Amino acid sequence: MDQITIIRPDDWHLHFRDGDMLQETVPATARCFARAIVMPNLVPPVINAELAVDYRRRIEAAIPAGSNFTPLMTIYLTDKTSVEDIRAAKAAGVVAAKMYPAGATTNSDSGVSSLDSLYPVFETLADEGMLLLVHGEVTQKHIDIFDREKEFIDQHLVKIVNKIPHLKVVFEHITTKDAADFVMSAREGVAATITPQHLMLNRNDMLDGGIRPHNYCLPVLKRSTHQEALREVVKSGSSKFFLGTDSAPHAQHRKESSCGCAGCYSAWSAIELYTQVFDELDALDKLEGFASLHGADFYGLPRNTDTITLVRDEWVLPESIMLPSGEPIVPFYAGKQVSWKLKA
Ligand code: DOR
Ligand code: ZN
Repeated sequence: MDQITIIRPDDWHLHFRDGDMLQETVPATARCFARAIVMPNLVPPVINAELAVDYRRRIEAAIPAGSNFTPLMTIYLTDKTSVEDIRAAKAAGVVAAKMYPAGATTNSDSGVSSLDSLYPVFETLADEGMLLLVHGEVTQKHIDIFDREKEFIDQHLVKIVNKIPHLKVVFEHITTKDAADFVMSAREGVAATITPQHLMLNRNDMLDGGIRPHNYCLPVLKRSTHQEALREVVKSGSSKFFLGTDSAPHAQHRKESSCGCAGCYSAWSAIELYTQVFDELDALDKLEGFASLHGADFYGLPRNTDTITLVRDEWVLPESIMLPSGEPIVPFYAGKQVSWKLKA
């Protein structure tokens, strides 16, 4: 097969950032995705309806003319989030709330430190038909960073999923066999997103032969057995798994630093790289479900109706892209060859 046409995909996990960065990030995503779930970890974070509505306006102002792209907004849960905040967010069209354990990742300092006190908020999310999106890593410093996802399942996720049976939960950017197995056997209403980097790479790609900061993201890449497990679940075609790039731009100097930021800016190549993975797995027939159907169905949103076409055609990602601020950024997979291309 040298060409594949699928219903236009959506990105169910994305970081646009803010300000002039939107001039770069919004067109890069709108080039192929119809919708994106926009992460709220700005500085300061998007913690309520009013901030989400303002942020949506700033994103909309950066959508290229002629594009039908729609941002889907989320709010950031803190220890102070109230039931009223959730109801107001619902009324403003916000579709989900994102739970970052405090300190788990980029701009998560205002995240949740006492998960147990948020149960009334989780109940309200379920009652309002909103989703809970979870960054699933514990933050206890004595727990090995490679074990933090599994620990989060055992310490928190099992309880959330069981205690609130009508809550839809998305376990974001899963990285382990433990997470894949958990989601696969979980009750209805539990799903996961998977990034291109966690399907394509393992921790050797970050650490062997030198530290490669542009492959560093959180949750951190794991050993190859986990990568293989993620590849197996997408190949299975299970509707519990769908596309979420976690495209997360940081300027080059913020990544190539003595304390580099986590995040891979994959918007320039994500759909092509997912296609390459499904092709390698001999599962191109499963790409459309993963990229374009399962997420919309899980969120209870209509499927897109138009299509995109990818062709087997080699191209090389740029080594660097200039941000509107004048700072360079290194895209994910920079300088590497990709074997599928989005047809214009
Ligand atoms: O690698 C990551 N980057 N993981 C996250 O959870 C956040 C993201 C970011 O905002 O940069
Ligand atoms: Zn993210």
